[in-house]
Amino acid sequence: MSQATTPQALEFDLLTPAAAQDAHPLYHRLRAGQPIHWSPQLQGWFLTRHADIATALRDDRLVAGPMMVQFDRLPEEARKQLMPLRDAVNMWMGHTTHEGHVRFQSLLKRYFTPRTVENLRPQIQSITDTLLDAAGRKGSVELVQELAIPLPSSVIAEMLGVPLTDEYMLQRWSRDLTAIFSAFDVQQLLRSQKSVMEMMEYMRGVLAQHRRAPRENILEVFVRAQAEGLVSEEEILSNCVLLLFAGHETTARLISKGMTLLFEHPEQLARLREDASLIPNAVEEFLRYGDVVGFITRLTVAPAEIGGQAIQQYQMVYLALAAANRDPAVFADPDRFDITRRANKHVAFGFGSFYCLGAALARLEAQVFFETLLRRFPHVRPAKGTQPTWEARIPLNRELCALPVEL
Ligand code: HEM
Repeated sequence: MSQATTPQALEFDLLTPAAAQDAHPLYHRLRAGQPIHWSPQLQGWFLTRHADIATALRDDRLVAGPMMVQFDRLPEEARKQLMPLRDAVNMWMGHTTHEGHVRFQSLLKRYFTPRTVENLRPQIQSITDTLLDAAGRKGSVELVQELAIPLPSSVIAEMLGVPLTDEYMLQRWSRDLTAIFSAFDVQQLLRSQKSVMEMMEYMRGVLAQHRRAPRENILEVFVRAQAEGLVSEEEILSNCVLLLFAGHETTARLISKGMTLLFEHPEQLARLREDASLIPNAVEEFLRYGDVVGFITRLTVAPAEIGGQAIQQYQMVYLALAAANRDPAVFADPDRFDITRRANKHVAFGFGSFYCLGAALARLEAQVFFETLLRRFPHVRPAKGTQPTWEARIPLNRELCALPVEL
Protein backbone atom coordinates (compact mmCIF):
# COMPACT_ATOMS: atom_id res chain seq x y z
CA MET A 1 0.00 0.00 0.00
CA SER A 2 1.55 3.27 -1.05
CA GLN A 3 1.01 6.59 0.64
CA ALA A 4 1.50 8.48 -2.59
CA THR A 5 -1.50 10.22 -4.15
CA THR A 6 -1.89 7.95 -7.14
CA PRO A 7 -4.92 8.02 -9.44
CA GLN A 8 -5.49 4.41 -8.40
CA ALA A 9 -5.96 5.47 -4.77
CA LEU A 10 -9.07 7.38 -5.83
CA GLU A 11 -10.68 4.10 -6.70
CA PHE A 12 -11.97 4.73 -3.18
CA ASP A 13 -13.30 8.27 -3.25
CA LEU A 14 -14.44 9.11 0.30
CA LEU A 15 -15.69 12.59 -0.47
CA THR A 16 -18.53 12.00 -2.94
CA PRO A 17 -22.13 13.02 -2.16
CA ALA A 18 -23.14 9.42 -3.00
CA ALA A 19 -20.86 8.08 -0.25
CA ALA A 20 -22.38 10.59 2.18
CA GLN A 21 -25.91 9.42 1.26
CA ASP A 22 -24.98 5.77 1.79
CA ALA A 23 -21.43 4.88 2.71
CA HIS A 24 -21.98 1.14 2.94
CA PRO A 25 -21.33 0.12 -0.69
CA LEU A 26 -17.98 1.92 -0.42
CA TYR A 27 -17.28 0.44 3.03
CA HIS A 28 -17.92 -3.07 1.70
CA ARG A 29 -15.55 -2.48 -1.23
CA LEU A 30 -12.89 -1.06 1.05
CA ARG A 31 -13.21 -3.87 3.58
CA ALA A 32 -12.86 -6.49 0.84
CA GLY A 33 -10.16 -4.69 -1.19
CA GLN A 34 -8.14 -2.39 1.06
CA PRO A 35 -9.28 -2.81 4.66
CA ILE A 36 -6.43 -0.58 5.81
CA HIS A 37 -6.53 2.12 3.21
CA TRP A 38 -4.37 5.22 2.92
CA SER A 39 -6.73 8.03 1.99
CA PRO A 40 -4.97 10.84 0.17
CA GLN A 41 -8.14 12.88 0.62
CA LEU A 42 -8.23 12.60 4.41
CA GLN A 43 -4.46 12.32 4.73
CA GLY A 44 -4.88 9.37 7.02
CA TRP A 45 -5.45 5.64 7.25
CA PHE A 46 -9.06 4.53 6.92
CA LEU A 47 -10.01 1.25 8.66
CA THR A 48 -13.18 -0.72 7.95
CA ARG A 49 -12.75 -4.20 9.51
CA HIS A 50 -14.24 -4.88 12.95
CA ALA A 51 -11.14 -6.80 14.10
CA ASP A 52 -8.70 -4.06 13.03
CA ILE A 53 -10.79 -1.34 14.63
CA ALA A 54 -11.01 -3.30 17.89
CA THR A 55 -7.21 -3.80 17.76
CA ALA A 56 -6.64 -0.09 17.12
CA LEU A 57 -8.91 0.84 20.04
CA ARG A 58 -6.87 -1.36 22.37
CA ASP A 59 -3.51 0.00 21.21
CA ASP A 60 -1.99 2.72 23.44
CA ARG A 61 0.11 3.98 20.53
CA LEU A 62 -3.08 5.31 18.97
CA VAL A 63 -4.39 8.19 21.04
CA ALA A 64 -7.79 9.83 21.00
CA GLY A 65 -8.37 13.52 20.48
CA PRO A 66 -6.18 14.09 17.42
CA MET A 67 -8.13 17.29 16.94
CA MET A 68 -5.13 19.11 18.40
CA VAL A 69 -3.03 17.94 15.47
CA GLN A 70 -5.66 19.25 13.08
CA PHE A 71 -5.64 22.60 14.88
CA ASP A 72 -1.88 22.73 14.66
CA ARG A 73 -1.97 22.06 10.92
CA LEU A 74 -4.08 25.17 10.27
CA PRO A 75 -2.46 28.32 8.82
CA GLU A 76 -0.84 30.52 11.48
CA GLU A 77 -3.49 33.25 11.39
CA ALA A 78 -6.31 30.71 11.87
CA ARG A 79 -4.35 29.00 14.63
CA LYS A 80 -4.11 32.28 16.53
CA GLN A 81 -7.80 33.07 16.06
CA LEU A 82 -8.82 29.60 17.20
CA MET A 83 -6.61 29.39 20.28
CA PRO A 84 -9.52 29.75 22.76
CA LEU A 85 -11.32 26.81 21.11
CA ARG A 86 -8.15 24.75 21.11
CA ASP A 87 -7.61 25.46 24.82
CA ALA A 88 -11.21 24.50 25.67
CA VAL A 89 -11.18 21.26 23.65
CA ASN A 90 -7.83 20.40 25.18
CA MET A 91 -9.58 20.09 28.55
CA TRP A 92 -12.37 17.80 27.32
CA MET A 93 -12.39 14.33 28.77
CA GLY A 94 -10.81 12.08 26.14
CA HIS A 95 -8.83 14.94 24.61
CA THR A 96 -6.51 15.54 27.54
CA THR A 97 -3.35 13.78 28.60
CA HIS A 98 -3.68 10.15 29.71
CA GLU A 99 -3.45 11.32 33.34
CA GLY A 100 -6.25 13.86 32.80
CA HIS A 101 -8.41 11.22 31.14
CA VAL A 102 -8.05 8.76 34.01
CA ARG A 103 -8.79 11.55 36.51
CA PHE A 104 -12.04 12.48 34.77
CA GLN A 105 -13.08 8.89 34.25
CA SER A 106 -12.61 8.04 37.92
CA LEU A 107 -14.64 11.12 38.78
CA LEU A 108 -17.57 10.55 36.46
CA LYS A 109 -17.80 6.87 35.56
CA ARG A 110 -19.68 5.79 38.65
CA TYR A 111 -22.47 8.27 37.88
CA PHE A 112 -23.01 6.73 34.46
CA THR A 113 -23.09 2.99 35.22
CA PRO A 114 -26.24 1.10 34.13
CA ARG A 115 -27.27 0.82 37.80
CA THR A 116 -26.91 4.53 38.63
CA VAL A 117 -28.47 5.59 35.38
CA GLU A 118 -31.46 3.35 36.14
CA ASN A 119 -32.24 5.79 39.00
CA LEU A 120 -32.94 8.41 36.33
CA ARG A 121 -35.73 6.32 34.81
CA PRO A 122 -38.56 8.26 36.54
CA GLN A 123 -37.12 11.57 35.28
CA ILE A 124 -36.64 10.20 31.75
CA GLN A 125 -40.18 8.79 31.82
CA SER A 126 -41.64 12.07 33.00
CA ILE A 127 -39.82 14.11 30.31
CA THR A 128 -40.94 11.59 27.65
CA ASP A 129 -44.54 11.75 28.88
CA THR A 130 -44.57 15.55 28.80
CA LEU A 131 -43.21 15.62 25.24
CA LEU A 132 -45.66 12.96 24.09
CA ASP A 133 -48.59 14.71 25.82
CA ALA A 134 -47.87 17.82 23.75
CA ALA A 135 -47.39 15.75 20.59
CA GLY A 136 -50.61 13.86 21.22
CA ARG A 137 -52.57 17.11 21.52
CA LYS A 138 -51.33 18.18 18.09
CA GLY A 139 -51.81 14.77 16.47
CA SER A 140 -48.77 15.20 14.23
CA VAL A 141 -45.22 16.36 14.94
CA GLU A 142 -41.81 16.73 13.39
CA LEU A 143 -40.10 13.97 15.35
CA VAL A 144 -36.48 15.19 15.17
CA GLN A 145 -37.03 18.71 16.54
CA GLU A 146 -40.04 18.02 18.75
CA LEU A 147 -39.14 14.68 20.34
CA ALA A 148 -35.73 13.20 19.48
CA ILE A 149 -33.66 16.30 20.33
CA PRO A 150 -35.63 17.65 23.34
CA LEU A 151 -35.67 14.31 25.22
CA PRO A 152 -31.92 13.74 25.66
CA SER A 153 -31.20 17.45 25.86
CA SER A 154 -33.69 17.86 28.74
CA VAL A 155 -32.22 14.84 30.54
CA ILE A 156 -28.62 16.03 30.36
CA ALA A 157 -29.69 19.61 31.16
CA GLU A 158 -31.34 18.35 34.36
CA MET A 159 -28.28 16.30 35.24
CA LEU A 160 -26.20 19.48 34.99
CA GLY A 161 -28.65 21.74 36.77
CA VAL A 162 -29.47 23.76 33.64
CA PRO A 163 -32.96 25.31 33.75
CA LEU A 164 -35.16 23.71 31.10
CA THR A 165 -36.23 27.16 29.92
CA ASP A 166 -32.70 27.64 28.52
CA GLU A 167 -32.62 24.32 26.75
CA TYR A 168 -33.27 25.69 23.25
CA MET A 169 -30.27 27.94 23.53
CA LEU A 170 -28.16 24.92 24.39
CA GLN A 171 -29.51 23.01 21.42
CA ARG A 172 -28.50 25.83 19.07
CA TRP A 173 -25.01 26.06 20.57
CA SER A 174 -24.62 22.30 20.30
CA ARG A 175 -25.57 22.34 16.63
CA ASP A 176 -22.78 24.84 15.91
CA LEU A 177 -20.41 22.74 17.92
CA THR A 178 -20.95 19.62 15.78
CA ALA A 179 -18.87 21.28 13.05
CA ILE A 180 -15.74 20.52 15.06
CA PHE A 181 -16.17 16.85 14.31
CA SER A 182 -17.31 17.02 10.72
CA ALA A 183 -15.22 19.61 8.94
CA PHE A 184 -12.03 21.46 9.53
CA ASP A 185 -13.20 24.63 7.90
CA VAL A 186 -11.95 27.81 9.57
CA GLN A 187 -15.23 29.74 9.27
CA GLN A 188 -17.18 26.85 10.76
CA LEU A 189 -14.61 26.44 13.49
CA LEU A 190 -14.93 30.13 14.35
CA ARG A 191 -18.67 29.65 14.71
CA SER A 192 -18.04 26.59 16.91
CA GLN A 193 -15.62 28.64 18.98
CA LYS A 194 -18.22 31.35 19.53
CA SER A 195 -20.72 28.73 20.71
CA VAL A 196 -18.23 26.99 23.00
CA MET A 197 -17.28 30.32 24.61
CA GLU A 198 -20.92 31.32 25.06
CA MET A 199 -21.75 27.92 26.52
CA MET A 200 -18.86 28.12 28.96
CA GLU A 201 -19.90 31.59 30.10
CA TYR A 202 -23.46 30.39 30.46
CA MET A 203 -22.31 27.39 32.55
CA ARG A 204 -20.22 29.76 34.72
CA GLY A 205 -23.51 31.37 35.78
CA VAL A 206 -25.20 28.00 36.34
CA LEU A 207 -22.25 26.89 38.47
CA ALA A 208 -22.36 30.07 40.55
CA GLN A 209 -26.08 29.55 41.10
CA HIS A 210 -25.41 25.91 42.05
CA ARG A 211 -22.92 27.03 44.70
CA ARG A 212 -25.59 29.24 46.26
CA ALA A 213 -28.18 26.43 46.26
CA PRO A 214 -26.43 23.06 45.80
CA ARG A 215 -28.33 20.02 44.52
CA GLU A 216 -27.29 16.41 44.09
CA ASN A 217 -26.24 16.38 40.44
CA ILE A 218 -23.13 16.22 38.24
CA LEU A 219 -22.24 19.83 39.08
CA GLU A 220 -22.06 18.84 42.73
CA VAL A 221 -19.65 16.02 41.78
CA PHE A 222 -17.44 18.60 40.06
CA VAL A 223 -17.69 21.11 42.92
CA ARG A 224 -16.65 18.47 45.48
CA ALA A 225 -13.77 17.39 43.24
CA GLN A 226 -12.68 21.01 42.92
CA ALA A 227 -12.64 21.37 46.71
CA GLU A 228 -10.25 18.40 46.82
CA GLY A 229 -8.03 20.06 44.21
CA LEU A 230 -8.84 17.45 41.56
CA VAL A 231 -10.26 19.78 38.90
CA SER A 232 -10.04 23.45 38.03
CA GLU A 233 -12.95 25.81 37.34
CA GLU A 234 -12.08 25.96 33.61
CA GLU A 235 -11.95 22.16 33.40
CA ILE A 236 -15.40 21.96 34.99
CA LEU A 237 -16.85 24.46 32.53
CA SER A 238 -15.34 22.93 29.42
CA ASN A 239 -16.43 19.43 30.46
CA CYS A 240 -19.96 20.65 31.14
CA VAL A 241 -19.97 21.84 27.53
CA LEU A 242 -18.74 18.43 26.41
CA LEU A 243 -21.44 16.62 28.40
CA LEU A 244 -24.23 18.93 27.23
CA PHE A 245 -23.18 18.41 23.66
CA ALA A 246 -22.25 14.69 23.75
CA GLY A 247 -25.30 13.99 25.85
CA HIS A 248 -27.85 14.85 23.24
CA GLU A 249 -26.65 15.07 19.62
CA THR A 250 -25.88 11.37 19.33
CA THR A 251 -28.84 10.12 21.35
CA ALA A 252 -31.19 12.27 19.27
CA ARG A 253 -29.72 10.62 16.18
CA LEU A 254 -30.26 7.16 17.71
CA ILE A 255 -33.93 7.90 18.36
CA SER A 256 -34.71 9.53 15.03
CA LYS A 257 -32.78 7.02 12.95
CA GLY A 258 -34.37 4.19 14.94
CA MET A 259 -37.78 5.55 14.03
CA THR A 260 -36.96 5.75 10.29
CA LEU A 261 -35.63 2.19 10.37
CA LEU A 262 -38.89 0.98 11.86
CA PHE A 263 -40.89 2.87 9.23
CA GLU A 264 -38.74 1.32 6.51
CA HIS A 265 -39.38 -2.14 7.98
CA PRO A 266 -43.11 -2.12 8.89
CA GLU A 267 -43.17 -5.84 9.73
CA GLN A 268 -40.57 -5.23 12.46
CA LEU A 269 -42.45 -2.17 13.71
CA ALA A 270 -45.52 -4.42 14.03
CA ARG A 271 -43.53 -7.00 16.01
CA LEU A 272 -42.18 -4.38 18.35
CA ARG A 273 -45.64 -2.99 18.91
CA GLU A 274 -46.89 -6.47 19.84
CA ASP A 275 -43.94 -7.41 22.03
CA ALA A 276 -42.37 -4.53 23.98
CA SER A 277 -39.85 -6.93 25.53
CA LEU A 278 -37.98 -6.74 22.20
CA ILE A 279 -37.28 -3.02 22.64
CA PRO A 280 -33.82 -3.27 24.31
CA ASN A 281 -32.74 -5.65 21.54
CA ALA A 282 -34.18 -3.35 18.88
CA VAL A 283 -32.23 -0.41 20.31
CA GLU A 284 -29.01 -2.42 19.95
CA GLU A 285 -29.90 -3.04 16.31
CA PHE A 286 -30.58 0.71 15.77
CA LEU A 287 -27.10 1.30 17.19
CA ARG A 288 -25.51 -1.29 14.91
CA TYR A 289 -27.36 -0.52 11.72
CA GLY A 290 -28.16 3.18 12.10
CA ASP A 291 -24.66 4.70 11.61
CA VAL A 292 -25.12 6.89 14.68
CA VAL A 293 -21.40 7.76 14.73
CA GLY A 294 -19.81 7.08 11.33
CA PHE A 295 -16.15 7.17 12.33
CA ILE A 296 -13.85 8.30 15.10
CA THR A 297 -10.23 9.36 14.79
CA ARG A 298 -6.92 8.52 16.39
CA LEU A 299 -3.32 9.67 16.11
CA THR A 300 -0.30 7.37 16.29
CA VAL A 301 2.11 8.68 18.92
CA ALA A 302 4.56 5.88 18.07
CA PRO A 303 4.98 3.65 15.02
CA ALA A 304 2.32 0.94 15.07
CA GLU A 305 1.18 -2.05 13.05
CA ILE A 306 -2.43 -2.96 12.44
CA GLY A 307 -3.63 -5.89 10.37
CA GLY A 308 -0.14 -6.31 8.93
CA GLN A 309 0.15 -2.65 7.86
CA ALA A 310 2.94 -0.54 9.32
CA ILE A 311 1.70 2.89 10.37
CA GLN A 312 4.22 5.63 11.01
CA GLN A 313 4.29 7.94 14.01
CA TYR A 314 2.04 11.04 13.92
CA GLN A 315 -0.42 9.74 11.37
CA MET A 316 -4.16 10.11 11.51
CA VAL A 317 -6.19 6.91 11.66
CA TYR A 318 -9.90 6.92 10.88
CA LEU A 319 -11.88 4.09 12.49
CA ALA A 320 -15.13 3.59 10.61
CA LEU A 321 -17.40 2.28 13.39
CA ALA A 322 -20.31 2.20 10.94
CA ALA A 323 -18.30 -0.10 8.65
CA ALA A 324 -17.23 -2.36 11.54
CA ASN A 325 -20.90 -2.68 12.43
CA ARG A 326 -21.61 -4.25 9.03
CA ASP A 327 -18.56 -6.50 8.86
CA PRO A 328 -19.71 -9.92 7.55
CA ALA A 329 -16.91 -11.57 9.55
CA VAL A 330 -18.82 -10.61 12.72
CA PHE A 331 -22.45 -10.10 11.71
CA ALA A 332 -24.40 -12.67 9.71
CA ASP A 333 -26.16 -10.99 6.79
CA PRO A 334 -24.90 -7.58 7.96
CA ASP A 335 -27.06 -5.43 5.68
CA ARG A 336 -30.24 -6.98 7.07
CA PHE A 337 -31.92 -4.87 9.75
CA ASP A 338 -33.20 -7.34 12.35
CA ILE A 339 -34.53 -6.29 15.74
CA THR A 340 -34.24 -9.89 16.97
CA ARG A 341 -30.52 -10.17 16.17
CA ARG A 342 -28.61 -11.82 19.04
CA ALA A 343 -25.00 -11.45 20.23
CA ASN A 344 -24.87 -8.00 18.65
CA LYS A 345 -21.23 -7.01 19.11
CA HIS A 346 -21.56 -3.56 17.58
CA VAL A 347 -19.00 -0.85 18.34
CA ALA A 348 -21.39 2.10 18.11
CA PHE A 349 -20.18 3.34 21.52
CA GLY A 350 -16.53 2.74 20.71
CA PHE A 351 -14.49 0.24 22.62
CA GLY A 352 -11.68 0.05 25.20
CA SER A 353 -10.56 2.88 27.44
CA PHE A 354 -12.53 5.60 25.61
CA TYR A 355 -15.76 3.62 25.59
CA CYS A 356 -18.69 6.03 25.66
CA LEU A 357 -19.35 7.39 29.14
CA GLY A 358 -23.04 7.89 28.32
CA ALA A 359 -23.79 4.48 26.76
CA ALA A 360 -26.12 3.29 29.53
CA LEU A 361 -27.91 6.65 29.60
CA ALA A 362 -28.43 6.73 25.82
CA ARG A 363 -29.72 3.15 25.86
CA LEU A 364 -32.18 3.89 28.66
CA GLU A 365 -33.46 7.05 26.96
CA ALA A 366 -34.06 5.26 23.67
CA GLN A 367 -35.73 2.31 25.41
CA VAL A 368 -38.08 4.52 27.44
CA PHE A 369 -38.88 6.59 24.36
CA PHE A 370 -39.85 3.67 22.10
CA GLU A 371 -41.67 1.79 24.84
CA THR A 372 -43.79 4.87 25.67
CA LEU A 373 -44.36 5.95 22.09
CA LEU A 374 -45.55 2.52 20.91
CA ARG A 375 -47.72 1.98 23.99
CA ARG A 376 -49.43 5.36 23.76
CA PHE A 377 -49.46 5.78 20.00
CA PRO A 378 -49.39 2.29 18.47
CA HIS A 379 -50.37 3.69 15.05
CA VAL A 380 -47.47 6.11 14.77
CA ARG A 381 -46.65 6.47 11.06
CA PRO A 382 -44.93 8.83 8.61
CA ALA A 383 -47.14 11.89 8.00
CA LYS A 384 -49.11 11.51 4.78
CA GLY A 385 -47.46 13.00 1.70
CA THR A 386 -44.16 13.71 3.49
CA GLN A 387 -40.67 12.28 3.25
CA PRO A 388 -37.91 12.41 5.82
CA THR A 389 -35.38 15.17 5.04
CA TRP A 390 -31.75 14.08 4.95
CA GLU A 391 -28.73 16.34 4.49
CA ALA A 392 -25.47 15.01 3.13
CA ARG A 393 -22.50 15.70 5.39
CA ILE A 394 -19.36 14.94 3.43
CA PRO A 395 -17.38 12.88 4.31
CA LEU A 396 -19.45 9.73 4.65
CA ASN A 397 -22.37 10.93 6.65
CA ARG A 398 -25.91 12.16 6.30
CA GLU A 399 -28.01 13.80 8.92
CA LEU A 400 -31.72 13.22 9.41
CA CYS A 401 -33.06 16.78 9.69
CA ALA A 402 -36.81 16.23 9.70
CA LEU A 403 -39.18 13.31 10.11
CA PRO A 404 -42.84 14.36 10.13
CA VAL A 405 -45.03 11.74 11.85
CA GLU A 406 -48.71 11.28 12.61
CA LEU A 407 -49.72 9.78 15.88
C1 HEM B 1 -26.48 6.95 21.00
C2 HEM B 1 -25.79 7.77 21.75
C3 HEM B 1 -24.30 7.84 21.80
C4 HEM B 1 -23.36 7.32 20.94
C5 HEM B 1 -23.58 6.51 19.68
C6 HEM B 1 -22.07 7.71 21.48
C7 HEM B 1 -20.86 7.35 20.91
C8 HEM B 1 -19.63 7.56 21.49
C9 HEM B 1 -18.39 7.05 20.97
C10 HEM B 1 -18.22 6.25 19.69
C11 HEM B 1 -17.41 7.42 21.84
C12 HEM B 1 -15.92 7.06 21.73
C13 HEM B 1 -15.14 8.16 21.07
C14 HEM B 1 -13.71 7.75 20.85
O1 HEM B 1 -13.27 6.67 21.25
O2 HEM B 1 -12.99 8.57 20.22
C15 HEM B 1 -18.02 8.18 22.89
C16 HEM B 1 -17.35 8.76 23.94
C17 HEM B 1 -17.95 9.57 24.87
N1 HEM B 1 -19.29 9.79 25.02
FE1 HEM B 1 -20.78 9.05 23.88
N2 HEM B 1 -22.24 8.44 22.63
C18 HEM B 1 -23.59 8.54 22.87
C19 HEM B 1 -24.20 9.15 23.95
C20 HEM B 1 -23.54 9.82 24.94
C21 HEM B 1 -24.15 10.47 26.08
C22 HEM B 1 -25.64 10.45 26.38
C23 HEM B 1 -23.14 11.06 26.78
C24 HEM B 1 -23.15 11.88 28.06
C25 HEM B 1 -23.93 11.89 28.97
C26 HEM B 1 -21.90 10.75 26.12
C27 HEM B 1 -20.66 11.15 26.55
C28 HEM B 1 -19.48 10.68 26.06
C29 HEM B 1 -18.16 11.03 26.62
C30 HEM B 1 -17.90 11.97 27.80
C31 HEM B 1 -17.21 10.33 25.88
C32 HEM B 1 -15.69 10.33 26.11
C33 HEM B 1 -15.38 9.14 27.00
C34 HEM B 1 -13.93 9.05 27.34
O3 HEM B 1 -13.11 9.71 26.74
O4 HEM B 1 -13.61 8.26 28.26
N3 HEM B 1 -22.18 9.99 25.02
N4 HEM B 1 -19.39 8.24 22.67
